[in-house]
Amino acid sequence: MPELAQIGVTGLAVMGRNLARNFARHGHRVAIHNRTYAKTESLLAEAGSEGTFVPSRSMADFVASLERPRRVIIMVKAGPATDAVIEELIPLLETDDIVIDAGNAHFPDTIRREAQLKEHGLHFVGSGVSGGEEGALKGPSIMPGGSRKSYESLGPLLEDIAAKVDGEPCCTYVGPDGAGHFVKMVHNGIEYADMQLIAEAYDLIKQGTGASAAEIAEIFRTWNEGDLESFLIEITADVLAHTDAESGQAFVDLILDQAEQKGTGRWTVQNALDLGVPITGIAEATFARALSGSLPQREAARGKLAAHTQAWDVQDRDAFVEDVRQALYASKVVAYSQGFDQIAAASAEYGWDIDRGAMARIWRGGCIIRARFLNRITEAYEREADLPLLLADDYFADAVGSSLAAWRRVVAGAAQNGIPTPAFSSSLAYYDGVRAERLPAALIQAQRDFFGAHTYRRVDKPGSFHTEWSADR
Ligand code: NAP
Ligand code: ATR
Repeated sequence: MPELAQIGVTGLAVMGRNLARNFARHGHRVAIHNRTYAKTESLLAEAGSEGTFVPSRSMADFVASLERPRRVIIMVKAGPATDAVIEELIPLLETDDIVIDAGNAHFPDTIRREAQLKEHGLHFVGSGVSGGEEGALKGPSIMPGGSRKSYESLGPLLEDIAAKVDGEPCCTYVGPDGAGHFVKMVHNGIEYADMQLIAEAYDLIKQGTGASAAEIAEIFRTWNEGDLESFLIEITADVLAHTDAESGQAFVDLILDQAEQKGTGRWTVQNALDLGVPITGIAEATFARALSGSLPQREAARGKLAAHTQAWDVQDRDAFVEDVRQALYASKVVAYSQGFDQIAAASAEYGWDIDRGAMARIWRGGCIIRARFLNRITEAYEREADLPLLLADDYFADAVGSSLAAWRRVVAGAAQNGIPTPAFSSSLAYYDGVRAERLPAALIQAQRDFFGAHTYRRVDKPGSFHTEWSADR
């Protein structure tokens, strides 16, 4: 009887094959399976010498090739394919076996699947995996949910293949049922905001100073040596420095200005609306992608809607660039603060008990939003685990406070010059809203009571009140 495998991966497209190779490179015996056997063969041909793979043509043989409790990673196309694979696995598995969905599932599906597998005595782990193709091979950030018991058996293997930062794995237990996929979803939402903010910074510098893409690439390289150091800033510099081989033009200028999306940003915003959490940076970033693709509307507006702008008169280019850097940093803090608020709200709503500091820690490596800045977030939650607002942590309040004047100059300048900065501007509006002594919401309550008798509360006495407004008319 051949030696049994420690972990199995079914679904060997780009992500699955690289995860399987990552396990093999770490000395684990990996059972591999794919609906279409040719992919299994091509993995063996390409990487068979990297470690020990145990290939199977059928799901039954695949399951039989695993040691118990079995650990089966599903890495197939998210949606109905995941359900189809789960249905195929259920009759083949035994009590306490662990099924891991490492695809990009929507967390309500994960909650449903966890309940379904529990009825069969099986553990279901919905795990976020971030870092794309390269991360899967060299070390992703891994966000596993499910039962704590499943993590005892699965965690060490996942921690082994995860990215490492300061010797710590970018993987930890997130929380029950849908918690892992939820956190991955918010990670992607924050990624949308981060990308939009960087794009706005680029546009401001381009329009404000007339700098070339190559010059802006250099600015981003410098920024990457400071507080903004991150994977996204680094690749932005590389993208901006890239020229088209044929025309010699900056490559970015040849790309159609319509950003697409597959849906995780939209899911994040939809959930924030359900929970009533203002994640304005992520929402604006998602809508900015939608606006870029609203072609009939853009066509109807182009050349017709008045601008009434003043030509941007940037006297001191370096000072302006520094203003934009500070505005970017402050807006980024807001976007992360909002994302962590959403995690806290969902954790309370769904009973997940998510440790936000640990989430920042496992995002420091492997994933798209990896950044130096995440250390600061972990430290903030170490100082106060139940921090109600990341932005109000002493470190961030000071950092954003010292960027405030620059942030206001940039947003005001953009408005006067007709440069759209939805994420910069909405983040500043959020900042001013959340710090306000008093908001105009009082007037909205009065209006609601006026037309719908919805009642209001008063600042000077307890209770709910209704006014007969018609007496005033
Ligand atoms: P994918 O293109 O999303 O999916 C292809 C895989 O799914 C193939 O192995 C395919 O098998 C299998 N499959 C599709 N329908 C199936 C069915 N009904 N029954 C059994 N198997 C089925 O692959 P991917 O890009 O590697 O992504 C895998 C998962 O990881 C997805 O959920 C994705 O969202 C997530 N993810 C992707 C990335 C990324 O950067 N690509 C990053 C993080 C997470 P056949 O070969 O037989 O067609
Ligand atoms: P990562 O965490 O490494 O960014 P990801 O969430 O899968 O991994 O995103 C990587 C890319 O795959 C993104 O371009 C993403 O599209 P969005 O920008 O719209 O999120 C895309 N992607 C994510 N989920 C997908 C899915 N279910 N099908 C196809 N592409 C998907």
